[in-house]
Amino acid sequence: MSSTTIASSASRSAAPGPALWSSRLAFILAAAGSAVGLGNIWKFPYITGENGGGAFVLVYLACIAVIGIPVMIAEVMLGRRGRHSPINSMREIARQEGVSRHWKAIGWLATLAAFLILSFYSVIAGWTIPYIFHALQGNLVGMDGAQAGEMFGQLLASPFELTLWHSLFMVLAVMVSVGGVRHGLERAVTWLMPALLLLLVMLVGFGMSTDHFGTALRFLFEPDFSSLTAAAVLVALGHAFFTLSLASGSMMAYGAYLPKGVSIVRTSMLVAVMDTAVALMAGLAIFPIVFANDLEPGAGPGLIFNTLPVAFGQMPGGSFFATLFFVLLLFAAWTSALSMLEAVVKWLEEQGMARRKAAISGGLAAWLVGLTTVLSLNVWSDFTPLDSFERFEGKTLFDLYDFLTANVMMPLVALLTAVFVGWVMKKSSSEEELGAGSMHRVWLFVLRYLTPVGLVVLFFYNV
Ligand code: TRP
Repeated sequence: MSSTTIASSASRSAAPGPALWSSRLAFILAAAGSAVGLGNIWKFPYITGENGGGAFVLVYLACIAVIGIPVMIAEVMLGRRGRHSPINSMREIARQEGVSRHWKAIGWLATLAAFLILSFYSVIAGWTIPYIFHALQGNLVGMDGAQAGEMFGQLLASPFELTLWHSLFMVLAVMVSVGGVRHGLERAVTWLMPALLLLLVMLVGFGMSTDHFGTALRFLFEPDFSSLTAAAVLVALGHAFFTLSLASGSMMAYGAYLPKGVSIVRTSMLVAVMDTAVALMAGLAIFPIVFANDLEPGAGPGLIFNTLPVAFGQMPGGSFFATLFFVLLLFAAWTSALSMLEAVVKWLEEQGMARRKAAISGGLAAWLVGLTTVLSLNVWSDFTPLDSFERFEGKTLFDLYDFLTANVMMPLVALLTAVFVGWVMKKSSSEEELGAGSMHRVWLFVLRYLTPVGLVVLFFYNV
């Protein structure tokens, strides 16, 4: 596509019409729907458990504030200015700014990250589906930790089952994606997000009723810096990007549908705060159960699947709440997966594909790659191809995808984005989007100095 066609279609899609979110609230819900997902409820508790608790949480909060929020503002802004897929938005902005077209590499890297993440995200999101059925059938009632572990182990050991749920989840994502942004997405998130919050509050309430709430609070909020490793800091950073859906095109793609006149700074901060609140609440819901049942906080990716069934199995009306919880976890993952698909699908559309075909092709390709994650959980669990590097020893394909995206690609995209927006783009351009003033100056300062320096230090310290 030549740059003139990009420019003309940019002005077309910038016109009010079905291509934009219907309101600021719709964007907030969609962006929060993207941000709030497995990252908050599944990943945050288990990496916090693996990395020793309090000190890790503090580093994570710092990463959100100093790096996450400024980068989110930058990405939403780039999306709204480019009004295209991340790849073509970057191309369009580079053209407007009169700088090298090669800056669109940011868009490519980001889209590739979104695609890779979607491939394994779908497999994990699929895990929620059998749990919905277990809960519905009352299988969780009276379960202890060992039985929960066994149930989860059986699921992971079956490539057939995993493939089934992975396929089903991907079909769900593609179905909504086919319908486009306003109808499928907007409508769904409007009631799913409040419902998820309500359920989390109830689960935290349950956590409070156990006698281990205090232990959980101390675990989450009492920092013990002696247990903090350099690797843990990188995990915290990677997770800050992951949980806010940054550095992988999602926020840029959603920003492309943001009406002019909405405050990007305030909206981004709100989304980040909501996302962080959900993660902390998930921690407060899950750790009391972990400690009350003598489970291991560092149990890894299976943590919530080993703990929550036990809690539900004990509470009155547990089967009902468990069903709701896993349904909502599925929905939270669903709204996140949609945002990953969007980066890819929008680009395919710009290559001349119809929306339907673009959504199906993008989903199918990610599904195929996802099969390698399915296998790495069982048949290929001993296949650790990079054993000769100390850093990657014992890592399965799934571990490697996770590491590559969260700890390599996303920090790199964030660094390039910060450099581009902070140093390459004209100050007047970002002022046009964000408004001039002290807020803009603070943001630009952080993005120019703190973000890149922080990223480079963390990155090289760890490689
Ligand atoms: N933020 C989501 C979560 O916490 C996942 C997600 C959505 C995501 N879009 C993304 C992660 C883009 C990385 C990149 O579950």
